[in-house]
Amino acid sequence: MNEQSRAPRQQGKPYRRPKKDPVRMLAFEALRAVDERDAYANLVLPPLLRKAREKGDFDGRDAALATELVYGTLRRQGTYDAVIAACVDRPLREVDPPVLDVLSLGAHQLLGTRIPTHAAVSASVELARVVLGDGRAKFVNAVLRKIARHDLDEWLEQVAPPYDDDPEEHLAVVHSHPRWVVSALWDSLGGGRAGVEDLLEADNERPEVTLVARPGRATADELLDALGEESSLPGRWSPYAVRLSEGGEPGAVEAVREGRAGVQDEGSQLVALALAHAPLEGPDRAWLDGCAGPGGKAAMLAGLAAERGAVLLASEKQPHRAGLVARALAGNPGPYQVIAADGTRPPWRPGSFDRVLMDVPCTGLGALRRRPEARWRRRPDDLERFAPLQRGLLRSALASVRVGGVVGYATCSPHLAETRAVVDDVLKHYDGSAELVDARPLLPGVPALGDGPDIQLWPHLHGTDAMYLALIRRTG
Ligand SMILES: C[S@@+](CC[C@H](N)C(=O)[O-])C[C@H]1O[C@@H](n2cnc3c(N)ncnc32)[C@H](O)[C@@H]1O
Repeated sequence: MNEQSRAPRQQGKPYRRPKKDPVRMLAFEALRAVDERDAYANLVLPPLLRKAREKGDFDGRDAALATELVYGTLRRQGTYDAVIAACVDRPLREVDPPVLDVLSLGAHQLLGTRIPTHAAVSASVELARVVLGDGRAKFVNAVLRKIARHDLDEWLEQVAPPYDDDPEEHLAVVHSHPRWVVSALWDSLGGGRAGVEDLLEADNERPEVTLVARPGRATADELLDALGEESSLPGRWSPYAVRLSEGGEPGAVEAVREGRAGVQDEGSQLVALALAHAPLEGPDRAWLDGCAGPGGKAAMLAGLAAERGAVLLASEKQPHRAGLVARALAGNPGPYQVIAADGTRPPWRPGSFDRVLMDVPCTGLGALRRRPEARWRRRPDDLERFAPLQRGLLRSALASVRVGGVVGYATCSPHLAETRAVVDDVLKHYDGSAELVDARPLLPGVPALGDGPDIQLWPHLHGTDAMYLALIRRTG
């Protein structure tokens, strides 16, 4: 079928203008921005929604539907691509990207939502008429009608190889992850099929929004009271966390508006807490966050440091991100300093800190729930790009801490090349002068932390991002 073909209109049949559906139009616009400009959905969507509300095009339900269509389409893109490929007569790369976006949006409505089939097809065809023209709308109509013949399970039977023939490719298609990501997550998680399937499914769910009551500036009880029982729940693991339920809006909380609380995944809170509570001999006065931007963990550390009479230096290479750190820390009850500096060539003297956090740049494979497009952007060679920087930052952290002090090496990726491989490689050169500390007792009550001494959190086990933390003490 030729998507460009334009069948002559039947004689006498009146032309009907396509109906503009603001929800689908907005979802399409967001998908194009993600596709064309490498934009992040979580940054593109809010201004588009705001504009639509201001124009009076949208109410809250429309905004929720548009968000679900964009995020759902991006998350399930791998599965939908396989289904669409089975319904067109050419390789997908030869289908125009805007046409593919309309098809994916239609496939999501048909296979991933409760929108009735006829409504999903007709809304997609109307959208195609507006954004692609009548000729290509016919192509969209024909493809979506083929897709509509089966439900998702039936399609998966057809387009995914049997698990026993090729387990990784099966899981990649069924759970919509790139194959190399399935392979890496499985290596890191270990175990059998059930665990990795739970993890991949958790990556496809919308994460709860979690708030942090910044230590010394707000309490979880204050946030719970402000939000009310209907809209909030206490955190699972962190005493500073509050989880928002449906309808809970961070902006409605005064403490958030005042910067005394913020939005922060509980996994990140646990990393900061574990480092802050790691046992230490001797003074506990000088703390460093060497990769601080945008300042989530630094804000928590600064509050905890203040309670102990310690001072935090928050350092970040990118000056604009150092600005975000300064904003997150403003109002901290104790002293702190924010600087823009390259953590691999630090301006501070070696051995000046008692506690150091290096939350290094990484692939972010542990935060796929939050960034629906990220899994399709990342490439295996990103790992090679980050590897020297991650090692350099960890070496610098170990040089920055005094003997007896503790370093926390953290990533929001569970990929072994970014976690254990980095720690093992670097520690080889510190024989007898640095040792891993068991981080598990520092997260009391948190189950399934593995064999230690480092810890790996998981979305499907802990409801957090897949944060990794190794604690290392300088011993000589
Ligand atoms: C994973 S993020 C840190 C997140 C932060 N800890 C938080 O909780 O908000 C890594 C940060 O390291 C910064 N970065 C990258 N290279 C760096 C370097 N050589 N020195 C210091 N910071 C660096 C990045 O700009 C980024 O802001």
